[in-house]
Amino acid sequence: MGERTQLVAGNWKMNGLAADGVALARAVAARAAEPHRCDLLVCPPFTLIAAVAEALAGSDVGLGGQDCHAAASGAFTGCISAEMLRDAGCSHAIVGHSERRHTCGESDADVRAKAEAAWRAGLVAIVCVGEIRAEREAGRAVEIVSAQLAGSLPAGTGAAKLVIAYAPVWAIGTGLTATLADIAEIHAAIRRQIPAGTRILYGGSVNPRNAAEILALPEVDGALVGGASLKAEDFWAIAQAAR
Ligand code: 13P
Repeated sequence: MGERTQLVAGNWKMNGLAADGVALARAVAARAAEPHRCDLLVCPPFTLIAAVAEALAGSDVGLGGQDCHAAASGAFTGCISAEMLRDAGCSHAIVGHSERRHTCGESDADVRAKAEAAWRAGLVAIVCVGEIRAEREAGRAVEIVSAQLAGSLPAGTGAAKLVIAYAPVWAIGTGLTATLADIAEIHAAIRRQIPAGTRILYGGSVNPRNAAEILALPEVDGALVGGASLKAEDFWAIAQAAR
């Protein structure tokens, strides 16, 4: 199998009203008309998916949801199914983001069920893992991430429908990034647990200044970008840093 094309994915989190979201998506689509070496994806809040799909039409920028429910439909007030994401134009769904694991109490089993739901709907699941600061300081990062992966990946995992995002919790939104050596170590450990060819993204305070050195690591297949994905020029600068 040839080298894995890097994926630069923007997770907009709970940011953007209609006007900002559409303007951001249009600006990303306009940039993406220029030559680029990586695949591009944006994951807006649910309320903006339809409008962003329209703004991205004709571009090669993909669209993802930030979460999905495990069920296809039913009495789950406030939730969105993978089938709904697919219907709205998404190709990907982020599952198990630490902001959901830690603020919504999602377990590995929940994340596994959501990844299965994404596949059932024909979406690629972006499964997130990452240790908290105390686990890193205790020297347990590899162990924690390996256990999360073992619990969060459904059986029958295939590289075409799976992306892993290593996003250490202490590096998210803090301006702190893992060292290059730590990123390389964790990505290599993840690599041993997943099907050949699966892409592994790094996430956690990726910005235009640190993107090139992170994306140059051989085990890093892209970035899951939070804050810096809210500015088209920063997101584009990160994309331009892809190998
Ligand atoms: P920041 O890039 O804002 O640290 O967020 C990272 C992240 O959580 C990606 O999903």
